[in-house]
Amino acid sequence: MTDSCPSHVVNTRPNPKPCRPQDRGKFEILQKDGMARIGRLHTNHGMLNTPMLLPVVNPNIRTIEPREMWEKYRVDGLITNSYVIWKHDDLSKSALENGVHELIDFPGIIVTDSGTFQSYVYGDVEVGVEEIVKFQRDIGVDIGTMLDVFGRPEMSREEIESAVEITAERAPNSLDVAGDELLLNGPIQGGLHDDLRALAGELMGQVNGTNRGFTIHPIGGIVPLMENQKYKDLFRILLSAKSTIPPDRPIHLFGCGHPLLFPMSIALGVDIFDSAAYALFARGNRLLTPTGTIRLDEITEWPYNSSELFKWTPEEVRSLDSKEREKVLARHNLEVTQSELARCREAIRNGKIWQLAEERSHSSAHLREAFLWVLDQLEDSDDGPVGVSSLRMISSTNPIRKGGENLLDDIEDRPHILHLKSLLALRWRIPGSWWDNSTGDPKRVVIIEGSSPPWRENSLHAVISILKETPESIILISTPIGLIPYSLEDVSPWSHIDGSDDIWDCPLDEEEIFDELIELGLSEIPFIRITPDPHSQIEESGIDVIFDWIDRCSIVDKLSVLNGLSPSLGCRLTSEMTTRKSKTKRMVNVYSNGLHIISPRLKDGGISLTLNGAKMINQLSPGTPLNFGEDFTGQELDHPGVAKVMIVDDAIPFVGEGRNVMQGYVLGADPHLIPGQPCLVVDSNGRLVAHGIPITSAREMAFLTKGIAVRVRDGALKNKNN
Ligand code: GUN
Repeated sequence: MTDSCPSHVVNTRPNPKPCRPQDRGKFEILQKDGMARIGRLHTNHGMLNTPMLLPVVNPNIRTIEPREMWEKYRVDGLITNSYVIWKHDDLSKSALENGVHELIDFPGIIVTDSGTFQSYVYGDVEVGVEEIVKFQRDIGVDIGTMLDVFGRPEMSREEIESAVEITAERAPNSLDVAGDELLLNGPIQGGLHDDLRALAGELMGQVNGTNRGFTIHPIGGIVPLMENQKYKDLFRILLSAKSTIPPDRPIHLFGCGHPLLFPMSIALGVDIFDSAAYALFARGNRLLTPTGTIRLDEITEWPYNSSELFKWTPEEVRSLDSKEREKVLARHNLEVTQSELARCREAIRNGKIWQLAEERSHSSAHLREAFLWVLDQLEDSDDGPVGVSSLRMISSTNPIRKGGENLLDDIEDRPHILHLKSLLALRWRIPGSWWDNSTGDPKRVVIIEGSSPPWRENSLHAVISILKETPESIILISTPIGLIPYSLEDVSPWSHIDGSDDIWDCPLDEEEIFDELIELGLSEIPFIRITPDPHSQIEESGIDVIFDWIDRCSIVDKLSVLNGLSPSLGCRLTSEMTTRKSKTKRMVNVYSNGLHIISPRLKDGGISLTLNGAKMINQLSPGTPLNFGEDFTGQELDHPGVAKVMIVDDAIPFVGEGRNVMQGYVLGADPHLIPGQPCLVVDSNGRLVAHGIPITSAREMAFLTKGIAVRVRDGALKNKNN
């Protein structure tokens, strides 16, 4: 136990391991949900596991001891101010002699700011641009910050332009002075101007020092916006800056640390927060909660608890002396902050970060306004920086996911649902032939209403009798989020909408139906609406051929809508298709000429390829993606094929044996690749090397140099003798 550690904190957490020198400053993406990412940054004092918060520690006032933060609250990294240390002779002397880790008594990652914020609060600071970087290097900081120029929201456009330019001009020297050991923050200024934020992202993202470029890009100049709850401006700035910041750099929201803002910020791509809120709010007798702030004076019981508050009643805490009270509340605030971040990380892992952001948006009118503004951008993206990020967010979000989908007001604007619906509108096609082998135009559209999932149980009898009666029928199911082809009946979220039973009894009105039919290209065909009788039975005779046709449509449609394979190629792939089914009559294996090619995913309704399937698809649609950096000049296709990732020659023997594709070994990837959906891995001649599931988008693969790019399911070059 160290001297500075309170008696109840036992030293149990081992010191962090330094990273390998070649990994220093590299950011790895482990998992994604839309723009949100679980990542880790490699440093000399361990891994920064993101999304995370760097608690602000004032070296002169330690409300919670940094050692306690490490031990008890599992804080991996904190932020302190190098300018404050530099200015105080005693602190500066000690830091230069023994290093900043000993000064602060913290074994984890120490990030420092540079004095820019002090210049915003107090006016000019007297330290030089290079001097403050050199000082951060010399005291052994892990991640320092260059001296940027704070752009206040009320400044004129010219002043903000100058803040962006001067910051960018100072960048190359700052990176050079930092040397190899000190990683640097490259702040993004730009005030409230979308184009200047995007320009700052581009300029700061491109700068390279002798050893490396910036490691992290904090978004600066936003504290005044947060103080005034201008969250819409905050998210606008974030989306603008993200349009140009290289995706291999973590994004830090400078000075943001209220848990209320975590889910939405993380959903829009923030990796790091920092804040003194846990201590400042405690000093003002206020408690942080994930949905807002509570005043200690106003409560009888704790509306949100923590291991710290369980020991006390509010009355007891009120009667503590001010220093002790501050510590109790600060510990609670830090604990709540850490728990909310854990909740957000878990939500990313479960594909639920957007739902969490949506829930939290109801906690504050300002946040709700900002959330609704974001939804508007997603629904109607322009071609400015905000639109670029919004479209990128939708197109890189896996449209399908297991688990329930809460039916709330904003359901249709969730990025994965927007993506799924746009893929359906773009890629779904009328079947080329019917179960009786006829090939004419469809005679009618039949819309099944008033039936709930699983439709293969509740409506199959109706589907069979409709098709028996008129084979050229297109069968659609009415769901609370629109019409879907029956062939996609088990695709989640449609098949997993959570709501009361009566949500399935609310048919769409004629106008809504017409709009949906236009989206699907079916508005010219007469339609009827039916509500299946739950008691009717399937008439068994002669229906196997109908079942087989439905199964084949399902595979062709899923490959087309979710994976971009054209229906004509899907039909060729499945022309000799047979299946193995589960006891509940769901397809579990799909064969072609006796070879297992596909395993339908029962949890989310998607498609899993087998090696045979991947080989057949690659033969049907040969070719390679463009090399990163080459511009696509061809025609955009609705069905660009199952996405491919092209790897460097050195990696082929390993990946061909079944090892994962690592970032940095990718030469090119199709832009329509979706993290979570199957992809083919090919060499530069288009030969199949493996198939698997991509972890990141193609754009991220172009930048990242650490971590897994594609989790390989099977290698295509396995030595059969092994
Ligand atoms: N802390 C809060 N905002 C800022 C900023 O814009 N720049 C720097 N360096 N630190 C900050």
